Amino acid sequence: MARISASVFTSHVPAIGVAIDQGKTQEAYWQPLFQGYEYSRQWMRDNRPDVIFLIYNDHATAFSLDLIPTFAIGTGAEYFPADEGWGPRRVPKVVGHPQLASHIAQSVIQQDFDLTIVNQLDVDHGLTVPLSLMCGEQPVDGAWPCPVIPFAVNVVQYPVPSGQRCFNLGRSIRKAVESFDEDLNVQIWGTGGMSHQLQGARAGLINQEWDNCFLDQLVHHPATLAKVPHIDYVREAGSEGIELVMWLIARGAMADVDDPARTPTVKHRFYHVPASNTAVGHLILENG
Ligand code: DHB
Ligand code: FE
Repeated sequence: MARISASVFTSHVPAIGVAIDQGKTQEAYWQPLFQGYEYSRQWMRDNRPDVIFLIYNDHATAFSLDLIPTFAIGTGAEYFPADEGWGPRRVPKVVGHPQLASHIAQSVIQQDFDLTIVNQLDVDHGLTVPLSLMCGEQPVDGAWPCPVIPFAVNVVQYPVPSGQRCFNLGRSIRKAVESFDEDLNVQIWGTGGMSHQLQGARAGLINQEWDNCFLDQLVHHPATLAKVPHIDYVREAGSEGIELVMWLIARGAMADVDDPARTPTVKHRFYHVPASNTAVGHLILENG
């Protein structure tokens, strides 16, 4: 049986990828941020999974106003870093896991979540920056530590899915993983956020108090957090703060949500302001 061993939550600011790719991680501006992920990179080496199920959002890179899937699962064998205007990042291609991804698609769709199935997908900073933060710099002809199943959520064009729907989807993903025959150690990652607004009169907005409350609630009261409506995210965390609903998918996939005896262990918590225009938040939770 496959099982979800841990969840990882992290922001995905594109400038973090640029800092890594241009060798700037030890510059005064970036050093405190990368220091906050040192524990995480060691934890990844010590807890290397067989597969990462990586929930992220595409930023009008692979998708556009032509086609807007609410939830899209990558069932392909490989995915290449997207050209977001400056050429593709020189990081390894992402190797998929078509067998587990197809099984999850089958199971989750039968649990009444209508996923879009994607075989061809270029992945943008939403997916590659969390991999770089957690796995460190990799040569372009190297490899990420394990296969990755990309799971894209529309948080760019309204209407976007509610926190409650994301939380419930996480539960279904856990059931899907646990019904896969092969003995696989799977990590589930929720990415994006925290508070940020890239446009309009409130561009640059960061709300440290709200973000830290979100981190507390995500750990201890995720079912209550799932009830927070969109308007609260937008008011409190800015227009792009809505990316945080993706964290509820990963949290909903943790064991304690249906089995209170299995409280997760907080292995690491980090918060840093700012990186580019964004508040960076990070959590590692292990299933109890
Ligand atoms: C920034 C943050 C994001 O989440 C994003 O997708 C693009 C830019 C930023 O802070 O610059
Ligand atoms: Fe983003």
